[in-house]
Amino acid sequence: MAVTRSIELRTEIPGPRSREILERKERVVADPLSVFLPVVVDEARGATLTDVDGNTFIDFTGGVGCLNVGHSHPQVVAAAQEQLARFSHTDFTIVPYEVYVTLAERLCELAPVQNAKAAFFNAGAEAIENAVKFSRAYTKRPAVIGFEGGFHGRTLLAVSLTSKTHPYKAGLGPFAPEVYRVPFPNAYRGPSADEALAALERALVTQVAAETVAAIVIEPVQGEGGFIVAPPEFLQGVRRLCDEHGIVLVADEVQTGFGRTGRTWGIEHSGVEPDLVTIAKSIAAGLPLSAVVGKAEIMDAPGDSAIGGTYVGNPVAQAAALAVLDVFEEEDINARAAAIGETIQARMLAWQERWDAIGDVRGLGAMLAIELVEDRETKEPAANVASAVVEAAAERGLLLLKCGIYSNCIRVLTPLVISDAELDEALEAWEQALDASLG
Ligand SMILES: Cc1ncc(COP(=O)(O)O)c(C=O)c1O
Repeated sequence: MAVTRSIELRTEIPGPRSREILERKERVVADPLSVFLPVVVDEARGATLTDVDGNTFIDFTGGVGCLNVGHSHPQVVAAAQEQLARFSHTDFTIVPYEVYVTLAERLCELAPVQNAKAAFFNAGAEAIENAVKFSRAYTKRPAVIGFEGGFHGRTLLAVSLTSKTHPYKAGLGPFAPEVYRVPFPNAYRGPSADEALAALERALVTQVAAETVAAIVIEPVQGEGGFIVAPPEFLQGVRRLCDEHGIVLVADEVQTGFGRTGRTWGIEHSGVEPDLVTIAKSIAAGLPLSAVVGKAEIMDAPGDSAIGGTYVGNPVAQAAALAVLDVFEEEDINARAAAIGETIQARMLAWQERWDAIGDVRGLGAMLAIELVEDRETKEPAANVASAVVEAAAERGLLLLKCGIYSNCIRVLTPLVISDAELDEALEAWEQALDASLG
C-alpha cells in the first residue's frame, strides 16, 4: 500500500509567490510586525498547512497554540459559518444572545473552580487586564504580583506583567504601576521551588505589603518564557500564601489551557484550585475569543457595567468555541495530547543523548520544548543554533517556533489532532534539521 506523505515541497523556501507577497508586505506593513517563517499560507487543514507556492508543511506552531483541534476542523467551520449567516454582532450587553450564555454554562462546568461565573473578551491580554480588574474590585487593593519570565500579553497592564525586555518592553514604557515581580522556579537553571517560594514570601516583606496585593498571576507552565513547569509544591505554596493573605490567585491558562498539557487545564496537574482562570488561544480554534472564569463572588465584584467592550464575546467565535468543546469530548483530545506528548518526549530525550547542544528537555503532556545551549556545563544559551534548527526544519517541511527568555528553546504547539503518520514525519524532519545544524 502506498504511504501518503504529508510534507510536500515543490519549491525552495520561501517560494517565488511567498517572496513576492513578503516584498509587498515590506512596503505597506509596519516594520515591527516582522515575520518569523517566510511562508505565506494559502490553506490549512488539521496539522498541515499549504503555502501559496504549493508547499505543504506540518505545522508545529499551531497558530501559537490556538489550534489544538487543528486547522479548519469541519465541525468548527460549520458552527462558525452557521452563526455568521444568522448574526455576527450586537454587543452582548446591548442585545444579548444565547450562545454567550451556553458557552458560559459549559465553561463554568469545566473550569477548575467551584461555583464559577464567566465573562468573555477577545484576546488573552484582555482576559488578563480584566482578571486584574475583577481582583482589584473584589479585594479593594491595588497591587499585582507576577513572575520573572512570565508572558501575559502586550496591552499596558499585560505588558507590565510580561517579563522579557526585548522585544516586548524596551522603549515602550512607562508601565502600569503596582506591578511586582518575583522569581519563577526553574529546575534547569534555578531557583528551586523552595527558593522561589521563599523569594515570594520575602517580597511581601521587602517590596509590597501583603494586605495591598489584589492578585498573584501565574502560568502553570510558562509558555513564551520557555515551557517551564511550575512544580506542584510551588503552586501549592503560592495557594497557601494567597489564602493566608486574602490574595486572588489567577491561573493564566491562555497557553496551557484546552488540553495542551494532557489535561484540560495546566493547573490540574498540581491539584490547586485557583480563584480565577484566564482562557484564550485554543478556546475557539483561532477565532479571537478569551474569557475569565472564576469564583462568582469575585466575578460579581465590579460595579454595574464596569466590565465590557464593544466586541467582547463575539457570537461567531463563541459558536466556534462550543464546537471546540464538542470535538474535545468526541475525539478525547486530552488523551491524544498525553499520548503524542509521550512519543515526542521520548524522541527529544534520545536527541539529548546524541547532541550536547540540547541542554534540557521539559514540559507537560504535549507542551514540550528543547533548550539549546553552547555548552552543557555553562548552559550558555544558543539562540542562533535554535534559529538554525528552525530554518533547517522549515526547509524539510516542518514549521517550528522558538520560545524562552533567551530565545534558545524550540517548542511544540502541534495541533493535537495530528495523525501518527504525520507525527512520525514531523519528528523525522526535526531530527534531520538537528543533524544538519549540529552535525
Ligand atoms: C500565557 C499567556 N497569557 C497571555 C497571552 C496573551 O494573549 P494574546 O496574545 O491573545 O493577547 C499569551 C500569548 O501568547 C500567553 O501565552
